[in-house]
Amino acid sequence: MQSRVDYVRDIKPLLARRCCACHASLKQESGLRLDTGQAARKGGDGGPAVVPGKSHESRLIAKVTASDPAERMPPASEGDGLDASQVALLRAWIDQGATSPADELPEPDPRDHWSFRPPVKAAVPMIADAARIKNPIDAFLAAESARQGLSPRPTADRAMLLRRVYLALAGLPPTRARKKTARICRYDGGDGNGPRRKIRSPGDGRRVANGHLPAVAAVFCVPGGESVHVGNTSP
Ligand code: HEC
Repeated sequence: MQSRVDYVRDIKPLLARRCCACHASLKQESGLRLDTGQAARKGGDGGPAVVPGKSHESRLIAKVTASDPAERMPPASEGDGLDASQVALLRAWIDQGATSPADELPEPDPRDHWSFRPPVKAAVPMIADAARIKNPIDAFLAAESARQGLSPRPTADRAMLLRRVYLALAGLPPTRARKKTARICRYDGGDGNGPRRKIRSPGDGRRVANGHLPAVAAVFCVPGGESVHVGNTSP
């Protein structure tokens, strides 16, 4: 007499490993799913796969114990059949009532994953304070901030911008002399090249390695579309 079988611990992993490639979300051979206990009891085209309390009447047991290789599950192409202890577990589960948790969820269909769905253009939210919106992404951020009750920080002032750029490019705050002479110029448009062109020009940002560029570009782009021309950043 087999001791108490636990569906989640003993049965579900076995069916998942040996049966679910063909009997779950991706394929339902013969209309049969075996990814939940309920689906196993419901069965496939040939009727219930599992008859609670009656392993000898259950198609699932007939299939895993079939001596005809053309009948046996899993099919011969999938390797060996189940071993005696695995069959004994399945029989015991069924004879003990074939119970399974009521809240068990079927495998999600992998084809429903968002990465397989065609992208759909989202409507740009309407924002009362239109002056804040410099490109459509700002509108999404503003809408979500409003939903969370957050108000935007003011744009960083010139001294703060300069400090950020210096820390990013030179690793040091700007010298007093540089604070006076550094020019802050308008970011010159949507081509995405403004800051990068400046950083790449000779003498700019000697410490800038490629890996720093995203951080630097962020510093340049965040404060309301302004960029900072820092000239030679050598201390
Ligand atoms: C490689 C795919 C594959 C795997 C893995 C597989 N099956 Fe099947 N199964 C099939 C196909 C194909 C059929 C329909 C043909 C048949 O009945 O032989 C089927 C039919 C069945 C049926 C009959 C369903 C009905 O209502 O007609 C049962 C029961 C079954 N399988 C149980 C299992 C069990 C239990 C396992 C794991 C131990 C398993 N299968 C693993 C492909 C597979």
